Amino acid sequence: MPRDASELLAFDRAHVWHPYASGVDPLPVLPVASASGVRIRLVDGRELVDGMSSWWAAIHGYRVPELERAMTEQLGKMAHVMFGGLTHEPAVALAERLITLVPKGLTKVFFADSGSVAVEVAIKMALQWAAGTGRAQRNKLLTVRGGYHGDTFGAMAVCDPVTGMHSRFERVLAEHHFAEAPRCRFGDAWDEDFIRDFRRKIETYHHEIAAVILEPIAQGAGGMRFYSPEYLRRVRELCDEHHVLLIADEIATGFGCTGALFACEHAGVAPDILCLGKALTGGTVTLAATLATDEVARGVSSAAPGQLMHGPTFMANPLACSAALASIDLLLSSPWRERVRRIEGELERGLAPCRNAPGVRDVRVLGAIGVVELEEPVDMLRVQPLFVDRGVWLRPFGRLVYTMPPYIIDTGDLALVTDAIRAVVGVR
Ligand SMILES: Cc1ncc(COP(=O)(O)O)c(C=O)c1O
Repeated sequence: MPRDASELLAFDRAHVWHPYASGVDPLPVLPVASASGVRIRLVDGRELVDGMSSWWAAIHGYRVPELERAMTEQLGKMAHVMFGGLTHEPAVALAERLITLVPKGLTKVFFADSGSVAVEVAIKMALQWAAGTGRAQRNKLLTVRGGYHGDTFGAMAVCDPVTGMHSRFERVLAEHHFAEAPRCRFGDAWDEDFIRDFRRKIETYHHEIAAVILEPIAQGAGGMRFYSPEYLRRVRELCDEHHVLLIADEIATGFGCTGALFACEHAGVAPDILCLGKALTGGTVTLAATLATDEVARGVSSAAPGQLMHGPTFMANPLACSAALASIDLLLSSPWRERVRRIEGELERGLAPCRNAPGVRDVRVLGAIGVVELEEPVDMLRVQPLFVDRGVWLRPFGRLVYTMPPYIIDTGDLALVTDAIRAVVGVR
């Protein structure tokens, strides 16, 4: 029997843990009844225009007929079957599709069940590759500050040491090398000084580094910064020079939100290992993938035990693979580049007035991502209801108010989002 909203909220508050929330005195949450298109419908009937795409995932919006059809068809065959010793059409078809879409050379696909797990798998691949190619002493990674790669222990260890959770779990986190965050903004003229710290770190420590891991072009939850493609090209060159693998974490940037299908394309580079997730299934069900080159696969197999040591229970879930195939088909058959370009222009115009507002440190836009960075952390208790009153769903964190709307959002709905951001920031 459906319970009323107040009972649901009371039980939720007492028993259900939410992301990054207290289990004792959590911040308020809103009960959702349904979602379709770009709108999230609350139990009390209010509708919110989604400016978050459910954390960079629902790029086509909600209740998308093409995705629902693919999943329903798959449900008629099997929702899941184990992947150890078995295989199936949705996984093979998706692997084939991904290999043709991603930057060249990535020919091996490992399906994981979340972005963080895809990062764990990428790290394992790199360490096993190092061992298999006679570089067993290379058991560290090099990354840049300002990064975010997930919340599991391996991933946390390469997140930004300040905005990440290093201080909480210091004693159990692996130690890696950190170069300064890329200082060159997307579109800035290149200066060799921008790569100096990274170059120094890789030159000094390459004998202990198996791989560099970073988010290409757009750093997400570690600071929402966009950096120059030239920086990524230099990183690729330096990795090659020092026989270090490059892991591109495109879990947030994959599938178009920076204006390129994959952010690596801005720089024309291909990584040795690539992580995908989030928008892979169009925001329907959880799935992630770690892709690698033949060379990485050969390296992994060249040292005992000769196998990649990972295998989640829900690996290559057929329902998720079917959703992913349908999502990719839908994306590629849509005018997504034009849509993202239009969103970029509207975000630029809509957020520009925040630029000189008191309390605003920076405004930046790339593709379908718009960011207003404030001087002080956002007071969520104050700000969240203000957004809801204006009919939009946004979820700021730290000093960052940002949006990454579904690509199908129209001009009027996007204006609601940017108007709400301006209002919260105190700009008319
Ligand atoms: C770049 C990046 N890597 C990894 C992750 C972790 O993905 P998940 O939350 O699916 O574990 C995220 C999630 O925000 C991300 O943005």
